[in-house]
Order: sequence, then C-alpha cells, then structure tokens
Amino acid sequence: MKQIALTGIKPTGQPHIGNYLGMIKPALELAEDYQALYFIADYHALTTVKNKKELEELTYQVAATWLALGLNLEEVIFYRQSDIPEVFELSWVLACFTSKGLLNRAHAYKTLVDENVAAGREEDKNINSGLYTYPILMAADILLFGTHIVPVGFDQKQHLEITRDVAMTFNKTYREVLVVPEAVIRKEVMTISGLDGRKMSKSYNNVIPLFAQSNQVRKQVMRIVTDSKRPEEPKDPDECNVFAIYRHFADADAVEAKRRLYLDGGLGYGDMKNELYELLESTFSKQREQYNALMENRNELDKVLEQGAEKARDIAVPILVKVRKAVGVTGSR
Ligand code: TRP
Repeated sequence: MKQIALTGIKPTGQPHIGNYLGMIKPALELAEDYQALYFIADYHALTTVKNKKELEELTYQVAATWLALGLNLEEVIFYRQSDIPEVFELSWVLACFTSKGLLNRAHAYKTLVDENVAAGREEDKNINSGLYTYPILMAADILLFGTHIVPVGFDQKQHLEITRDVAMTFNKTYREVLVVPEAVIRKEVMTISGLDGRKMSKSYNNVIPLFAQSNQVRKQVMRIVTDSKRPEEPKDPDECNVFAIYRHFADADAVEAKRRLYLDGGLGYGDMKNELYELLESTFSKQREQYNALMENRNELDKVLEQGAEKARDIAVPILVKVRKAVGVTGSR
C-alpha cells in the first residue's frame, strides 16, 4: 500500500496561476507516488467567508479547477471536507489534547490579536472561535486518514507543527494510535511573484486568475508593474516581474532567448507582456474550456465529490473507531 499524501485547499479565492505553480501542479505530480487525498476545506473557509453564494461558488471553482487541470479520479481521492462527518468528531477529541497556549501562539490568530492591541481595541475583538480553533480542525483533517506527508506552502508550517504535537500528545496518553505526519514544504510557493513583484496572493490583489475570460487575463497581464526603461535599453531580466512569470511557462530555450534580449536591449515591456499573455492563453485555453464545461454542470461536480467522500470515509472510519476505543467512548459508525 502506498503512503498517504493529503492536503486541503481552502476555497477563499478564485484560483490563480500562483496556486497552479505552487500547489496544484506539484500536488498532481506527487499523486503518482503516493495515495493522494486532496480535499476542499470548505468548513475552514467558513471562518472568513460568510456569504452562502460565495462559499458555494468558490467551492465549485476549486473543484472544477483541479479537475480541468488533470486530477485523475481513478487515483486521487478528491472530496469536500464538509462531507466527512468523522472529521468533526475527531476534532473534538483532538481539542482535548491541544494546549490552549499552542492556539494562542498560532500565527493567524496572533496577528489578529496584535492588530486589535495596536488599534487600542480589546484583544479578542471580532475574532470568532472557529478562527481560534482552526488548527484543531486542520489536525483532524490530517490525522483522520493516517496521513504520512502533507504538502503545503510555508505559511502552513506552524499548523503542521501543531498537528504533530497534538498527535504525539495523544499517542503518549494512550498508545501509538495516530500516524504522526511530516510536512513537505514547497519552497517555490514563495518565489512566484505577482503583478507587483510581491508573492502572488489574493490578499495583495496581484494575481493572474487561471480561468477568467481572456480579456480579464489580458487586463491583469497589462497591469504587471515594470520600470520605465525604453525598449532599446538593456534590462536585467531577474528584476522584471513579467519575466518572473514568463519563465515558469515558456520552455528553456525560449527563456534563454528572452534573457539575452533583455540583457542586450531591444525588448519593450509592452511586447513582452503580449507574449506572456499569448503564452498563458496557449497554455490554458483547452483547460479553460473544460473548466467552463464543469462549472456549467454542478450536479456532475457534486457527484464526483460525493464519490470521493465515500472513498475517504472508508479510510477514516476505521481510524476513528480506533480513536474512540483508545479513549473509552463508544460512538456509532
Ligand atoms: N489551512 C490550509 C490553508 O489555508 C488549508 C487546510 C485545511 C489544509 N486543512 C488542511 C492543508 C489539511 C493541509 C492539510 O491553506
């Protein structure tokens, strides 16, 4: 039996090319060597997305994106977190093994507290308990499946440390019931820069969406920030935000040729942006069609996710039963 690789995708924004390069592509590759479980963390999104239509829409977008980009349903178990009731039962059990201090120190929570304090507000003002206990739900997502590795971006490192801590505390109290997972941190995630050169991220509003309409993609590409060097001037490709994105999609020869053009002078940013746009179009146009077709057929998406949930529960239930037995409660299937 292959080892288990599991990761969660929080549906909080329209998927963009940074997600593709930093997460989706490596995850799809990893699925060749591991039994992959990839799921949409819709209940995690509920800590911030409080609009029904929006949450539904974003959830379908994530599902359609991964399927259009080639997720193989024969191999990958692909599901919605909210379809797995066992996650929430395990969450409670794990909460009883999670020190409150650990949660106090969790970055996402601490950042909000610091903001409140800096603004002279009461420290927990406007912070919901779901946000506070977020790391526990995440630990349950992971530990419920006997997960060996968890591919995540650097921003999730602390969450994985909390997960490991909770699992070890549980195991020390009883016996080795839970598999203690390893984080696999993808370094590239940090280096995929957005329109302004900062990390591509929805919160910086500097993204190029994967499957938006062509004219919207074009608009974003044209917004990429450059300096004001004229076409004939030599430029440093490694300083250029257009090149930084281009080099991920063009083949090695084309990247090299462009690099030389930058250095020699003779390349205008406008032309370079056009080329990047064309390249993104040719890279993703077929998948975009598939994506659009899937978004038109939500019943099909529901069916796919429900089938995934069934397979996931087949793995989860025996593990939850072991946990119940270990702590001394009964519970039903
Ligand atoms: N917290 C993760 C994020 O914001 C999403 C997530 C939820 C997750 N549960 C998970 C990731 C379990 C890996 C494993 O990106």
